[in-house]
Amino acid sequence: MFLSAAAGSGSVASTTLRRLSVLIAVSNDEFATDEAAPIVGDSDLAAQLGAGSADDEHSCLRTIGMSTIVTGASGLLGRAVLAALSVDDSFRNVQGWTYSRPGSVQVNLTDGAAVRSALTKAQAKFIVHCAAIRRPDEIKNDEQLAENLNVRSNEFFCDYLKEVPDGFLLYISTDYVFDGKNPPYGSDDTPNAINKYGQQKIAAEKFILETLPGKSAILRVPILYGPVEYLAEGAVDEVLKALLNNPPNKPIQLDHYHLRYPTHVKDIASAIALILRKRLEAPGDIKGIYQWRADEQLTKYDMAIIMAEQLGLPHEHYVANTSAPSGGDSAARPHNCCMKTDRLHELGAKIAISFPEGIRDLTEHVK
Ligand SMILES: NC(=O)c1ccc[n+]([C@@H]2O[C@H](COP(=O)([O-])OP(=O)(O)OC[C@H]3O[C@@H](n4cnc5c(N)ncnc54)[C@H](OP(=O)(O)O)[C@@H]3O)[C@@H](O)[C@H]2O)c1
Repeated sequence: MFLSAAAGSGSVASTTLRRLSVLIAVSNDEFATDEAAPIVGDSDLAAQLGAGSADDEHSCLRTIGMSTIVTGASGLLGRAVLAALSVDDSFRNVQGWTYSRPGSVQVNLTDGAAVRSALTKAQAKFIVHCAAIRRPDEIKNDEQLAENLNVRSNEFFCDYLKEVPDGFLLYISTDYVFDGKNPPYGSDDTPNAINKYGQQKIAAEKFILETLPGKSAILRVPILYGPVEYLAEGAVDEVLKALLNNPPNKPIQLDHYHLRYPTHVKDIASAIALILRKRLEAPGDIKGIYQWRADEQLTKYDMAIIMAEQLGLPHEHYVANTSAPSGGDSAARPHNCCMKTDRLHELGAKIAISFPEGIRDLTEHVK
């Protein structure tokens, strides 16, 4: 059986959002997505950008004008960002890019020529760069590949946007730029990452702000959750999967050491739309580093208890593991990267979804 779990819990208002629905298979532990649906923000644009003669392409570009690109549009955050921008009247021609999804605009962001060509074809003006290799342990396996995507791809975007009047790059970064030893962290505090992922994000932030001053901004976000294509797509639903797979009453160790601020992708997407709208209104005011997160401080153990209660599962056998990890194969994680969020609060950003409310979308579907 497949259930639709479109971004957030509200009603799905448009064809675009229907196409973006994430389908969750709840039988026999299989999860799938609607691969036939184009991962683009505007179905008419998708048709226009599809196959056609060179003449067709030119007349189409004259018609559609400058566009907003969302990279990583098939990812956990990118899907929500694409959905939010696509229904926001401030943005025309929102185009989602993926690496490998059939039916979408596929661009390998490690290939400079391909990126330049796709940006030119789309007449990109705003770029929200969500694509990344973001699992610290995956980065350990191929640091160079991750470096090419997480850091070097920004060279291509900056080169292109330098020539675009009012062009703007919003790069999505992480709270893992901090070492987690001395929170809360302001956006001007010196980052000091303890794993390669955080170090790559710091390098990208620095490169962008130096190369494209006044035409770029960084948004740092914490651990994210929201509608998923499969359980364990994100670090929060990975906890849910572990609970579901755990034999009844068998003790299960859950991290109660790392302090997290899980934030729903819909709240991050709203903050991104706000930043872009403010940029349209007053370009000079929007630049530098922003940070955004929900307020609830939770460990994975805390998250598990909330999930178990929603699922009606006993949780007396959940073991809160309070010890700091002692090395091993996993990449190091910071203890507490609580970020100050004053710059976005001043712009008017709001958190609308509490953790129990946001996670209910997932727990309801797996019941
Ligand atoms: N998820 C979190 O908890 C979290 C926490 C803090 C910060 N962030 C940051 O938030 C941003 C979004 O993360 P996410 O969780 O949405 O990531 P994600 O779910 O892992 O999605 C990654 C995206 O990158 C695309 N991609 C991978 N390799 C590519 C390549 N060579 N060229 C073009 N695109 C490529 C993928 O496309 P395909 O699907 O086609 O492969 C996919 O759309 C990232 O910058 C991440 O560092 C995330």
